[in-house]
Amino acid sequence: MNPSSIFLFALALAGLTQAQNAPVANVESARKMVEGPCTECHGQVVKGDATAIFTRADRRARDHESLVKQVHACGTQLKTPLFPEEEEHLATYLNQRFYQFKQ
Ligand code: HEC
Repeated sequence: MNPSSIFLFALALAGLTQAQNAPVANVESARKMVEGPCTECHGQVVKGDATAIFTRADRRARDHESLVKQVHACGTQLKTPLFPEEEEHLATYLNQRFYQFKQ
């Protein structure tokens, strides 16, 4: 194999791994975010475990769309606002871990 075909092979492999992990491309980075900067503020809203904001009885997100909207609204309050792809990524993570809406 010449170097450029090795490169292409590696690229194809990377694509494959990503596809297998879909729809949450990087669970670890989403978890770090949700349990980091997001938690600091949520902990003040719900007492105790900050992730309870996603499981409380009167939670606000009703479907995937409203979840993305809420992530967007919260994201604007961060020091560094989120990119739309990050909002979508976080919403997908939250949906898989807490909400389980059908998409
Ligand atoms: C500056 C404060 C603040 C930060 C930072 C923040 N949030 Fe929130 N978030 C809130 C508040 C306040 C609520 C509750 C809104 C309500 O009850 O009306 C909330 C609610 C939510 C909900 C809805 C929970 C439900 O009831 O279903 C989601 C989802 C959410 N936040 C995601 C995030 C994510 C993801 C981040 C980090 C990227 C984040 N938030 C960062 C303040 C914050």
